Amino acid sequence: MCGVFGIAFETDHPQLGTYLIKAAKKLVYRGYDSAGFASFSSTGETKLSKGPGKLDEVIKKYDIENFTGSRGIVQLRWATFGEPNEANSQPHYDSDGDLIGAHNGNIVNTTALIEQFKAEGLTVRGTNDGEMVVHAFEKYFNQKADPLWAMSQAKAMLKGDYAFIVGHRDCNALLAVKMGSSLYMGIGEGFICCSSDLASILQFTKKVVPLKDGEMVIYDHQSYQVYDIHTCEKLDREPKLSTITIEEAKLDGYPHFMIKEINEQPTKTKQLLELMEQPDPEIDALLETIEQSRRCWFVASGTSYHAAIIGAHYFSQLANIDVQPVIAGHFNEIYGHLVTEKDTLLCISQSGETKDLMNVMNPLAKEKRGNLLSIVNVVGSSITTKSKHSLNIAAGLESSVPATKSFMNQILMLLHLAVQIGCKKQINKALEVKNELHKIPSLIQDTIAQCQKDCEEIAEKQLVEAHDLYCLGYSLNYGSALEGSLKIKEVYYKHCEGMYSSEFKHGPLSIIQEGYPILFPAAPDESYMVISHVNEIRVRKGYVVIISPRHEGFERAADQCIIVPDAPYMLTPFVNITALQIIAYHASVKSGYDPDFPRNISKTLTVD
Ligand code: BG6
Repeated sequence: MCGVFGIAFETDHPQLGTYLIKAAKKLVYRGYDSAGFASFSSTGETKLSKGPGKLDEVIKKYDIENFTGSRGIVQLRWATFGEPNEANSQPHYDSDGDLIGAHNGNIVNTTALIEQFKAEGLTVRGTNDGEMVVHAFEKYFNQKADPLWAMSQAKAMLKGDYAFIVGHRDCNALLAVKMGSSLYMGIGEGFICCSSDLASILQFTKKVVPLKDGEMVIYDHQSYQVYDIHTCEKLDREPKLSTITIEEAKLDGYPHFMIKEINEQPTKTKQLLELMEQPDPEIDALLETIEQSRRCWFVASGTSYHAAIIGAHYFSQLANIDVQPVIAGHFNEIYGHLVTEKDTLLCISQSGETKDLMNVMNPLAKEKRGNLLSIVNVVGSSITTKSKHSLNIAAGLESSVPATKSFMNQILMLLHLAVQIGCKKQINKALEVKNELHKIPSLIQDTIAQCQKDCEEIAEKQLVEAHDLYCLGYSLNYGSALEGSLKIKEVYYKHCEGMYSSEFKHGPLSIIQEGYPILFPAAPDESYMVISHVNEIRVRKGYVVIISPRHEGFERAADQCIIVPDAPYMLTPFVNITALQIIAYHASVKSGYDPDFPRNISKTLTVD
């Protein structure tokens, strides 16, 4: 999964490097194993500077600030094919250095193409799939110097999804292609650009040209033409003025975005509660669709999947509706063939671009099977365009790769939806919870205020000294345990397995030896079983930390307790997960890691 951006000016622009750096900073969430910058001068000179490492390191190493030229391409990479090294960094030259191109995507037949291009005498320098897109284009462009024809032929060799931008040293235009990965075009004053990410364009211009899959565009500094990649016929496409406002990522005095965004959770949940008090026909329509469904799945990946698990608990307990939380990458394999027009999928995604989810939505949208709904954090994202109804969780720009405030707003939105249905059905639990929702912002705020010291101590003692650990949860806090374990893995690189606590005795209990750490987010309402499960560990000398509102039985049962504010049972994930986020954050920072841009992962994965 990567990000690519290409810009064309009329003549050599002294600030080309600045434009490329600004674009790169908006793309870095898509991958930061390596970065690469290419420039084309108006007299046909080219320059390609790229390599592994964080964006700022590459910018400094190659003095990108002083890049000049009439056209430029920048690519941020999250490695799929080819380890992160210079040869596999993007963009790539073609065999004889006339073309430079870069892609975002996943060419699944890369290995075969490497062999084929080598056999055909092309100069293959690495094992990255983006290089194969350049060679596929080169192969046909060498036959006939017609970029449209060349790309229309090359696509047949490329299996998988991608968005690709390429330029030739002797031509003042760039060619961009959208084949399954996101791509947008912006029309500026004196320049035109294409990018994987809308925000990287909107910082320069609000005039955006929507591109669709199977389309390519040739553009220079002042004109563009969209074509159908299959027929090469011209397509008329007028620019639109985007109304989306892009927040600037600012630390505002915090050391990292992660701790800033954890501290934003009270405000963002409060703002969402205020939004939810307004009548919203989109919510009504979404709820009606769910209520009328034969089956309903909550489909998501990563942290959003943990929100789906907690949301399914809310829908069952508060709305008497049985929904099935499913990992997005698993859905097609297990349920895809069962979906009928009577069924509903609620797709939950912070970015609204996760490929695992697009792989679920695209075929269903094409076959008009299933009611596709979504809850997202990025307005105008691809998943919203595929949805019959889509709700925004309004968590604001989330810059840190590990999701925190977007997660809290996801579970708040899901709780609100369940309560809405439950109250209509006059379900007592829902009627009770409805009167407690307003407590959530202050409960999170109080958790941050009163648990910092305990969380830092747990991070220092239990996590730093542990080789690995488990995070157990029962009933509603099973989702809390899964999310807490993911945060620890994401930012602290230590194995922490999230598990349903009743399952622990069926095998994993054998891992327990003296002092083995167990984190256990819980609630007084779960105390009977939680204490039983804690005892099974403690009699074998495991070290158990219960995270929960105060409970005398827990204080007797556990080695240590982190006391979070007293919260009504259905709200305990909000306080327990806040404490777990803080524990993970401190463990990361105390180990000298970067919690905002952890190794190997990225904020949004648009590859399979
Ligand atoms: C992963 C991110 O790549 O994608 C996680 O690192 C995220 O933080 C997951 O939860 C799903 O992303 P999204 O945007 O669909 O919620």
